Amino acid sequence: MTSKILIIGACGQIGSELAQALRNKHGKDNVVASDIDSRNMEVVQSGPFEIVDAKDYNSVKNCIDKYDIDTVYLMAAMLSATGEKNPMAAWDLNMNSLFHVLNLAKDGVIKKVFWPSSIAVFGSNTPKENTPQHTIMEPSTVYGITKQVGERWCEYYFKNYGVDVRSIRYPGIISWKTLPGGGTTDYAIDIYHKALTEKSYECFLSADTSLPMMFMDDAIKATINLMEAPEEDVKIRSSYNLAAMSFTPQDLFEAIKKHIPDFTITFNPDFRQKIADSWPKSIDDTSARNDWHWQHAFDIEKMTVEMLEKLGEKYGVRIS
Ligand code: SER
Repeated sequence: MTSKILIIGACGQIGSELAQALRNKHGKDNVVASDIDSRNMEVVQSGPFEIVDAKDYNSVKNCIDKYDIDTVYLMAAMLSATGEKNPMAAWDLNMNSLFHVLNLAKDGVIKKVFWPSSIAVFGSNTPKENTPQHTIMEPSTVYGITKQVGERWCEYYFKNYGVDVRSIRYPGIISWKTLPGGGTTDYAIDIYHKALTEKSYECFLSADTSLPMMFMDDAIKATINLMEAPEEDVKIRSSYNLAAMSFTPQDLFEAIKKHIPDFTITFNPDFRQKIADSWPKSIDDTSARNDWHWQHAFDIEKMTVEMLEKLGEKYGVRIS
């Protein structure tokens, strides 16, 4: 039987590309996109779309009942930088949406759940290089706290209620289609836009801040691969470490400068520096590679070529 999928938060950075990928794969009518508003016209017009408030149990359940959904990707969340400005709103959205979906799975209304976690679950006392799957987790942002607690609940629902919930700790995700909202890793997207439009960029992190990152195509591939993996291969039910590359703003600047020689950068760290400093520099994702055969395809060079080409088309700027 074809599964009927609901994406909650489908107008966001990852949700919108996931919607497209899943619609291409399963047919547009089998993938219902939903969000709190209809700001992404491509998502709204490329298949069924509903307004759903992830914080509201009835709003989520009504949509699931209407389309006979069996699989939910819960992509709605408030990210690290925005969450620090409004901690209670971040807690409210990130936790309540997860409980609604986990409880619907526990009650047998849906069968399978994807819920993203993040490198933000780690904190200052976590080993920073090759951060292990199982290690000290003392997140310092409200976003990280919701993700860590969420991971505990996912594992709890799996162990105690048999809920088939799967999760990835996404690194910073870099993409060209939709702008991200309110993350600490977002400089790695802004920089490409500014390189093309202004040939200069003021970075809100310091030159040597190394963070784990991933190109969107890899993130989508990982998400779908994990969801398609046989149940017995998914051995971690909290959330999987996942890695592709790590770089600093200086590294990224140099990679872009190879293509735009007169590009310049300045560094003016703000409150996000403290958040970045509490996160790992690189991630050990051996479990994902062993359990469900994860492999990334994009490194900093390949990603930079793709970003400059796609955004160059958008801005009408040709890169040699
Ligand atoms: N990219 C996210 C953020 O910066 C981390 O998961 O908040």
